[in-house]
Amino acid sequence: MRKKIVAGNWKMNLDYNEGLALFSEVTNMVKDEATGTQQVVVCSPFIHLHSLVQLAKGYSNIAVGAQNAHQAESGAFTGEISAKQIKSVGAEYVILGHSERRQYFGETNELLAKKTDTALANGLKPIFCIGETLQEREADTHFGIIKAQLEEGIFHLDADKFAQLVIAYEPVWAIGTGVTATSAQAQEIHEFIRKEIAAKYGQQVADDTTILYGGSCNPKNAAELFAQADIDGGLIGGASLKSRDFTDIVKAFN
Ligand code: G3P
Repeated sequence: MRKKIVAGNWKMNLDYNEGLALFSEVTNMVKDEATGTQQVVVCSPFIHLHSLVQLAKGYSNIAVGAQNAHQAESGAFTGEISAKQIKSVGAEYVILGHSERRQYFGETNELLAKKTDTALANGLKPIFCIGETLQEREADTHFGIIKAQLEEGIFHLDADKFAQLVIAYEPVWAIGTGVTATSAQAQEIHEFIRKEIAAKYGQQVADDTTILYGGSCNPKNAAELFAQADIDGGLIGGASLKSRDFTDIVKAFN
């Protein structure tokens, strides 16, 4: 079901105690100040998950997520973590297909389709990331890239499984650069994504899908972005590491 969601992606930051301290600050701020956002998600490194789940128990609108999960159920994959293991510590969400994993770990749409299947099979809600590089946008191939990421990554799912996904559009050229997509640029792609979903699954499923924007979203631009018809919230990187900034983005829906 379509929700107003603000998710933080801490990426590979914060040691154990720093993460607990930040999460405590965020929960204390959000519980008193955030009225419009229906779901806040904090996607931390694996080391924090169990403790954050315990800390989140007092807050009905705050959930915890991971930033990746292996495609296999279990096995000889040294150093990897499975969807079942993530679920077992109480995390609800998992980011899949982040551009940094596509870039640095060679994750393909085909692999991500398998990761999505395994995450869903183990009761996790995938936040499935798509988005184009600067080169692809400058070559005007970005609509085709995004269409392929949808078709090859998640359009194999039946409608019931698809309904459990959150989609995040993250233009790679806006991630960590301070160069945010304009609200018009973001809305254009979000509208395109929703139309592709409607063509595949029908208008009701498309209308019910949560599509987040990610890429240098901050307290100054969040309200304008979130006011767009097809933007349902944000996937926040750098600003999620600062409790005041992250809370101010959560408040953008107030
Ligand atoms: O997953 C969200 C992240 O990629 C966006 O990063 O620092 O541009 O907000 P940032």
